[in-house]
Amino acid sequence: MTHKPLGKPLTILGIETSCDETAAAVVRGAAPGPGMILSNIVFSQVEAHAPYGGVVPEIASRAHLEILDDIIERALAEAKVGLAEVDGIAATAGPGLIGGVMVGLTTAKALALAAGKPLIAVNHLMGHALTARLTHGVEFPFLLLLVSGGHCQLVGVGGPLENGKWDFRLYGSTIDDAVGEAFDKTAKILGLPYPGGPQVEQAAKSGNPRAYDLPRPLVSGHNARKSADFSFSGLKTALRQLAQGGVDVADASASFQAAVIDILRDRTRIAMQMFRADFPGGNVLVVAGGVAANQAIGAALEKLCREEGFVTRIPPPGLCTDNAAMIAWAGVERLSAGSGDDLSVSPKARWPLATMP
Ligand code: KG4
Ligand code: ZN
Repeated sequence: MTHKPLGKPLTILGIETSCDETAAAVVRGAAPGPGMILSNIVFSQVEAHAPYGGVVPEIASRAHLEILDDIIERALAEAKVGLAEVDGIAATAGPGLIGGVMVGLTTAKALALAAGKPLIAVNHLMGHALTARLTHGVEFPFLLLLVSGGHCQLVGVGGPLENGKWDFRLYGSTIDDAVGEAFDKTAKILGLPYPGGPQVEQAAKSGNPRAYDLPRPLVSGHNARKSADFSFSGLKTALRQLAQGGVDVADASASFQAAVIDILRDRTRIAMQMFRADFPGGNVLVVAGGVAANQAIGAALEKLCREEGFVTRIPPPGLCTDNAAMIAWAGVERLSAGSGDDLSVSPKARWPLATMP
């Protein structure tokens, strides 16, 4: 393991448009990090989607198109960096809502072509995965718990391989809803505003987590399956039935969050064993994605890590939710590992991490 930067520091412009945040950032650094965030502009479209209780793809791509040029200009201005001074332009190329991804990737291609800079087509999940290197300089390998609105997975991250590919090992993923989605649906059932995650966390603070007995699907004690896969839809159904009879919102939020914590803890414990078999001596758990902003979940995972001899690294909340600094940082890592992309690269609605690059 090395603690020295692996190469010369790179300055990368990052662009993120895969969901409902239009974001641009400039980051400077070298693997393994930490890096410097020179600017990090995030424009949330949340108000445009709130009346619909979820992200409307057509509204999202039009909004990205309208505002992205401005956001990029602001990111460069705030970083006091001209396009001619960056080492590359990184944009999310998937997975995500295809219209939005197209807007960001096409803009990045045009800028790369005009400025004569390398293009790095970044996997959004890789952006989340590597954020803890940007913030904490975490070394490979680490175990990643990625918990967002669209994803819920446990991945062993080994780093770049000599053949230009990356070593990502999928230990478990959700067989139905993502955990952030479960938070958002729970909020809707309980009449809390969108987006639901932070609202449910807030409501849970004054509730009793034992008020309602909710199921913990796939948790080891309930069935014998030894896998790190997740399931949240049964939990949501149980909550919906409960809500028909009228519930206390704080108690229901607290009971839901307690069930989620039990599920995450159980699956992560199993994945830790799988990770240790693949990477003997590995002892870092990185939690990433929007749900990692949840402090009760973070505290429970920190306790699990103490029990299992792991240490936890959780990026600050603003870098857990979607942003372009994480995309710029993934650009730093991929470019310094020697891989940029051709301008013919196409946007992808689906792009599992395990198939990287
Ligand atoms: O990573 P992210 O910004 O977007 C995706 O790539 O999905 O994650 C957004 C998700 C939403 O489902 C939101 O409700 C959830 O993260 N979230 C939270 C919290 N903050 C955001 N869930 C639980 N507790 C929170 N504090
Ligand atoms: Zn995300």
